[in-house]
Amino acid sequence: MTQRKSQFSRRSVLTMVGAGAGVAAAASAFPTRFAIGQQAKVKIGTLLPYSGTYTRLGEAITNAMELAFAQAGGKLGGRDIELVKVDSEAKPPKAAELTNKLINQEKVDFIVGPVHSGVAMAMAKIAGEEGTMMVVPNAGANQVTGPFCAPNIFRTSFSNWQPGFPMGKVLAEEGKKKVVLCYWDYGAGKQSAQGFKDGFAPGGGTIVKEIGIPFPKVEFQAALTEIASINPDAVYVFFAGGGAVKFVKDWAAAGLKDKIELVGPGFLTEGVTKAQGAAAEGIRTTLHYADTLDLPTNHAFRDAYQKAYGKPADVYAVQGYDAGQLIRAGLDAVGGDVGARDNMVKAMETAAIDSPRGQWTMSKAHNPVQNFYLRQVKNGANEVVKLAVENLTDPATGCKM
Ligand code: PHB
Repeated sequence: MTQRKSQFSRRSVLTMVGAGAGVAAAASAFPTRFAIGQQAKVKIGTLLPYSGTYTRLGEAITNAMELAFAQAGGKLGGRDIELVKVDSEAKPPKAAELTNKLINQEKVDFIVGPVHSGVAMAMAKIAGEEGTMMVVPNAGANQVTGPFCAPNIFRTSFSNWQPGFPMGKVLAEEGKKKVVLCYWDYGAGKQSAQGFKDGFAPGGGTIVKEIGIPFPKVEFQAALTEIASINPDAVYVFFAGGGAVKFVKDWAAAGLKDKIELVGPGFLTEGVTKAQGAAAEGIRTTLHYADTLDLPTNHAFRDAYQKAYGKPADVYAVQGYDAGQLIRAGLDAVGGDVGARDNMVKAMETAAIDSPRGQWTMSKAHNPVQNFYLRQVKNGANEVVKLAVENLTDPATGCKM
């Protein structure tokens, strides 16, 4: 596998990783699939955050996708792989230009990304128009598998609505009545909050206050003061990456940890419990993954990831790994011939992906139908408490596929 940075502006790209970049650059100069009598590499472009608050998410996705490719012997459908990694910076205003460059200048066969829902909106719109194969390994924007759904757009993660709904259901079942919502005020936070409400309200719960924080700001003091004065039964929050570290630490430092229950979608404690330390212990969240899922594939994956990267896997790694497996299923089915589009798409729609999260299937709108678990942080691990909702499907409102 060769990897190289793209020709884009220096700020928006990663430095080159590994050897063979010169070879990759030379190979990519050939417009056809066959260079010097040899099949050209399959070209995969990532548009993921390699800087900013979501950096560790982008890195985990990339690492695990590369692990999936390495386990495939470094070939997809018999072809070598060239990765072009571009830093999205999790900045929606930059997304259209970077997506266009990957598609029209780099001429990638697949575009993999993003993490941020705002970036996803721009990417999915362009991929939909251009027909480029796109695999979303995180961003939950409901629209991607709703009104923007398309045969060439797949997601291996979740819709923002999905992890919120089970948490609302769990709290309603426990008899909680008054909840405050606090989230980064953009698509992901708002849609996650809506999922929570949809699970919570039918059980008689009410939302007593919604507090939005501009992304990616981490000044939480005013929100914490307000929450303390309201003293609700629980607070549901959407923060991830660096923001989740800061929020959970600030929550404990404000003395709220043993007074008010803090819950959220699992992103609140994914990949960050080490940085959060004691402040994370005991936090309950819902997600389509947990570190302790007792499945052979999960154990094997966690061992392989730890060995390769020297740190524990998390949900972002799982989603990146499955993105790699999904692309492999598509390309293997057509012997690497990306021109055989219909057959490749069909193979991806029906792929039985052996995921660390357990078996999941692709919905008609190309979003995972999957189990959601209630989890709790114990000794720094997100442990399974129970299955919260089995085989949850996103409503896919507006998808006409
Ligand atoms: C999103 O913007 O869709 C998003 C970002 C980070 C997460 C989850 C969702 O952890």
